[in-house]
Amino acid sequence: MKVILFFLYASLYLNCIEGAVTLPQNASVQAVIAFGDSLMDQGNNNHIKTIFKANFHPYGMDFTNGNPTGRFSNGKTLADFFAKGFGVKEYLPAYLDPLIQHKDLLTGVSFASGGAGYDPLTSKLSNVMSLSSQLEMFKQYIQKLKGNIGQEAAMNRITNSVFLVSAGTNDFLVNYFTFPMRRLQYDVPAYGNKLVKLASNFLQEIHKLGARRIVVFSTSAIGCIPIERTLAGGAQRICVDKYNKAAQFFNSMLKLELQVLASNLPQTRIAFSDFYKPLMNIIENPQQYGLEVTNRGCCGTGELETSYLCNKRMTRTCHNDSNFFFWDSLHPTEKGCDIFVNLVLPDMMKKLF
Ligand SMILES: *[C@@H]1O[C@H](CO)[C@@H](O)[C@H](O)[C@H]1NC(C)=O
Ligand SMILES: *[C@@H]1O[C@H](CO)[C@@H](O)[C@H](O)[C@H]1NC(C)=O
Repeated sequence: MKVILFFLYASLYLNCIEGAVTLPQNASVQAVIAFGDSLMDQGNNNHIKTIFKANFHPYGMDFTNGNPTGRFSNGKTLADFFAKGFGVKEYLPAYLDPLIQHKDLLTGVSFASGGAGYDPLTSKLSNVMSLSSQLEMFKQYIQKLKGNIGQEAAMNRITNSVFLVSAGTNDFLVNYFTFPMRRLQYDVPAYGNKLVKLASNFLQEIHKLGARRIVVFSTSAIGCIPIERTLAGGAQRICVDKYNKAAQFFNSMLKLELQVLASNLPQTRIAFSDFYKPLMNIIENPQQYGLEVTNRGCCGTGELETSYLCNKRMTRTCHNDSNFFFWDSLHPTEKGCDIFVNLVLPDMMKKLF
């Protein structure tokens, strides 16, 4: 008895030093819940009216049976590889999938909607589900879980879930740098600050609903995404410095805010997952990762086609997408996702547990 008490006190004491986190250190991840944009959309957009869809060929050509599922990839997405990396399951389903079953809900779903952003205007411009509608679906999901396994077991599951949040890219690329509304209201630092506040509010909302281990992805090197090289990178299709600078500014503000938030939210781990540096590293050193092409996608010319423009009439689609980081002009291939998750998972585990 004394020995047990000693360990109990010792571990409480150690946990205090670490910032009052008393979440079980070795708890297994019971579910993965994803929010945000097309990097995490597992097919939700199939069920809404928007042009941002990926439920037709050649999307999904390397998926089981070669079926397009609405994932913005030739196969699996980042969300799938994270679900597997956390030891939960091979495929993270879309919450709106009509074939979804009780047992699928237990181990997590994605609420993400391709085209969404932190800024509600971004989701509105793309006619997709904003983070606040995603939050409403999450509340509905919690009610379903409670109905299935009871209040306590449901909340226990939420506590032991990992939450993935991916947004920000569309706020800059689809909204700020494409339409004039936000540019007239904000310069880049002010808009970045607005996005960080919106991100923080969203994270506090999911925390209120029970989220305790949260991964927030930074924006990537958005100026090096193939479509942006084509539209704004000149004849050489170089990375667009202005976009990368905006991403870097936003990311550094986001990182600071997450540190503040984590210290204010009891019993919560928030991991900032940098997408910028790993992507830059892959783009600049493809061979190191077993890749050949990182400046254009595989679908069609790879320089412009995404969503409806990447379709089965594309004749120039590359022969082997395993050599490409990008699948279409915006989204990574299954191989790219695999490489990225392997690169960031160890550090993420350290930050979450
Ligand atoms: C955590 O570790 C303790 C001690 O090794 C063990 O008793 C407990 O079952 C573990 N919990 C989980 C969820 O793995
Ligand atoms: C595609 O490329 C990968 C990696 O370079 C290689 O392992 C694989 O055999 C190739 N597949 C085909 C069909 O050429």
